[in-house]
Parts: sequence; structure tokens; C-alpha cells
Amino acid sequence: MSSLQLQGVSSGYKASVVLRDLSLDIAAGEAVALLGKNGMGKSTLLKTIMGYLPKQSGQVRLDGTDITRTAPHRVARMGVAYAAQEQAIFADLSIRDNLRIGLARESDFATRFDAIEPIFPVFKTRLKQYAGTLSGGEQKMLLVARALMMRPSVILLDEITEGLQPSVIDRLAQALLWERKTHGTTMLVIEQNVAFALQVADRFMVLKQGEIVEQGNARDTTAAETVFAYLRV
Ligand SMILES: Nc1ncnc2c1ncn2[C@@H]1O[C@H](COP(=O)(O)OP(=O)(O)OP(=O)(O)O)[C@@H](O)[C@H]1O
Ligand SMILES: [Mg+2]
Repeated sequence: MSSLQLQGVSSGYKASVVLRDLSLDIAAGEAVALLGKNGMGKSTLLKTIMGYLPKQSGQVRLDGTDITRTAPHRVARMGVAYAAQEQAIFADLSIRDNLRIGLARESDFATRFDAIEPIFPVFKTRLKQYAGTLSGGEQKMLLVARALMMRPSVILLDEITEGLQPSVIDRLAQALLWERKTHGTTMLVIEQNVAFALQVADRFMVLKQGEIVEQGNARDTTAAETVFAYLRV
């Protein structure tokens, strides 16, 4: 597990600034849920952390190391797993190859897979199947399983519950809680599903027009109400 800090980060696309002077401090082993309406800059934040978007100002630190200008593949190699919102599984590869992709060594596959198999039993007998034949919900599970296979120290998840039925969402929540309990992985979970977000996180934050406008303890009895007030149109 690693800590993740953003200090005065501004970022966006060409002419438009999306994130404005954003600071955020996630302790090692902590899970933070970031919520906000469409277009508020949630995905932009994760792309900025990973290095897909250049920072216009500010600094990002991973466990104290400056990664402000580090390339995405290097950030990944430093232990940050990222499930992008628009990311798909590789449909033409087998489930096994999809799971294998983030691993440096083939020899790690068996032990890593054994570790996650109890929380994703759906893949056990289907490793050779093309990932494209999985249902939408199963593909989302595969994305999360792939991230966990990397044994990351930080995991960044962008709306993994989008379009999924409650039973699958519950499974994903159980998987993340298991991961936290087993490895103490630091998490930044972008969500619009408030119940899921508050279930898996210690702390919540609300992003509005590129700024954090509210934050609190996910266990507070008023947390859901507070967040809903911002998500309501
Ligand atoms: N590649 C891009 N080029 C220009 N503008 C972009 C690009 N991607 C996103 N934006 C704009 O940046 C703003 C923030 O987008 P972002 O994707 O971060 O929002 P979001 O909070 O993730 O929304 P959603 O909940 O819909 O996923 C939006 O106004 C969006 O139109
Ligand atoms: Mg988004």
C-alpha cells in the first residue's frame, strides 16, 4: 500500500481547465470514494494521476515520490492499477490472457489467480474462453480481477458499477472489501452509485466543476444524504 497526494493540481484539455487547484491526500491503506455528477471532472482526475493528461500546475506524489511527470506505464509499474471508465477487456483474448496481461512474469499467474479465484469463481472453469463472450457484468468483473491480479499498492477505479445489476454490484463490493482486508490496498473509487461507494470507502468526497466541495466520513449516518444532495439534478 502507498499513499497518494495531489497538491494544487490543475489539468484539462487544450483550452479548457477541468480540475482547478485540486488537493487531495489519501493515506496508505485508505479507501476514498469520489462522487459527482456527469462532466464534473472525475475521469479527468484519474487520467491526470496516471499521467495520461499533463498537469498544468501542481504535484502528484506516490508514497512521497514525485510522479507529476511520470509516464502512465511507469506509474503502473510503480504499483498503481487503473480501471478506466471507457476501458474494455480484450475481447479476442482468452480470460486467462486478459488476467495475465498486467503481470511481469508468467510464473506469477497461478498463485495470483488462486488468490482471487474465491472472489471471482465465475472465471475458474472458463479461463480459455474468449473474454468477448462474457456478459457485460462479467466483463466488468474481469476488469477488476485483472487489476487485483497485479497486486497493486494503489487501485483507481472509474465507475465500475455503471450499468450493472445489484447482485453484480454487490459482488464487486465484496471483492474490493476482500482486497482491502487481505492486502490493505489504497483505493480511489470514482462512483455515481452512492451506496456502493460508501460501502467500500472510509471517506467520501464530492467533486463539482473540478473542485472538491464536500467531504466526510463514509460511516457517518448522514453521509448518503449529504452526497445525494449534490448528485440530485
Ligand atoms: N478528451 C477531451 N477533450 C476535451 N474535453 C474533454 C475531454 N474529455 C472530457 N472532457 C470534458 O471535461 C469535462 C470533465 O469530463 P470528465 O470525463 O472528467 O467527467 P466525469 O466527471 O468523469 O463525468 P461522467 O460521470 O459522465 O463520467 C467535461 O466537460 C468533458 O466534456
Ligand atoms: Mg467519467
